[in-house]
Amino acid sequence: MPISKYSANIQNLIDKAKGGKDLHREDIIKLLKIPADFSPYLFAAADRVRHEQVGDEIYLRGIIEFSNYCERNCLYCGLRKSNSSLSRYRMSEDEIIATAKKIKQTGVPTVVLQSGEDSFYSQDIVCRLIERIRKETDLIITLSIGERALNDYKAFQQAGANRYLLKHETASRELYKYLRPGSDWENRLQCLRSLKHLGFETGTGNMVGLPGQTPEILADDLLVMKLLDADMLGIGPFIAHPGTPLAGLENDDLEITLRVLAVARLLTRNTNIPATTALATLHPQGRLQALQAGANVVMPDFTPEIYKSRYDIYPGRKDVGEASEIISHLERDFQTIGRTMLYSVGNRPIENYNGIRH
Ligand code: 5AD
Ligand code: SF4
Repeated sequence: MPISKYSANIQNLIDKAKGGKDLHREDIIKLLKIPADFSPYLFAAADRVRHEQVGDEIYLRGIIEFSNYCERNCLYCGLRKSNSSLSRYRMSEDEIIATAKKIKQTGVPTVVLQSGEDSFYSQDIVCRLIERIRKETDLIITLSIGERALNDYKAFQQAGANRYLLKHETASRELYKYLRPGSDWENRLQCLRSLKHLGFETGTGNMVGLPGQTPEILADDLLVMKLLDADMLGIGPFIAHPGTPLAGLENDDLEITLRVLAVARLLTRNTNIPATTALATLHPQGRLQALQAGANVVMPDFTPEIYKSRYDIYPGRKDVGEASEIISHLERDFQTIGRTMLYSVGNRPIENYNGIRH
């Protein structure tokens, strides 16, 4: 095919996606494989859809990483239980509440409670935490504490949790089985369906740049996000951790992560998509580029300094320092691309682009 016809073809596909046409698996694969000179066109389309669907303001979520204990042994993650060189911590209930209050004082409306899979925090403990945070701060609560029994999810919701993040990590069953020994992809998907069914605003997502990953697998990741009708999508690059079996695997591919993010915006329209810390870690401009390729959320880390560096999922994590300083720094960065922060709740808009009410 002559180059110009090929170009017209790709541009046409991006234009249709921008206009809301559903993308088939083959279309998605095509977009993930386009030559680099088309990327600005793809990113601009995603940026436009982001503007139309969720506006120009950047939503804020404050994270508390309250425990770095994990009972799993994922090959890619520094918190894996076999990583004996990691100094483990659990924040007390009072420390967590005090940190939530700090988030509230900063004007950030949502707290994300994140940890490894740590059964020390029983259903009762988590529910008490949720109730106290609701009572003492009135923050919107997002949990990110892994796979739990349905009964736990129900209790968390009754206690007042509003949102739940559980990345599916990869749509490839084989890769998942290899990377997460002893865990089951179907079970994770079932958790996600249950969360959605219970009425949580539900987040999923993947890592980009995993060993053995192909554009086809990434297209399936995007279809999982779409089919689940997920409300939030965490898309971040894999960054090798020296204390894991995947040590030394290079991944400097910012471009493909941004492409997955841009296609996610085109495909899912009004979802909330963070510019992840992993993107900022991979590249100094990673976060700002993501915010110009479909992302609309940032999640500053409020974990107290004494613990922060021990939440060592991957090395070189950006965002060390006081959260309020990080926020002012981000605010200045955002001004350079003509965007401001939104200090309000930032739910996913009630109608999705098909006009289906949730
Ligand atoms: N690189 C990037 N992201 C990672 N995560 C875990 N390990 C890594 C890594 N090496 C992400 C996973 C998981 C969350 C705890 O952090 O997506 O959901
Ligand atoms: Fe634990 Fe999650 Fe890390 Fe796996 S990815 S080891 S479940 S914290």
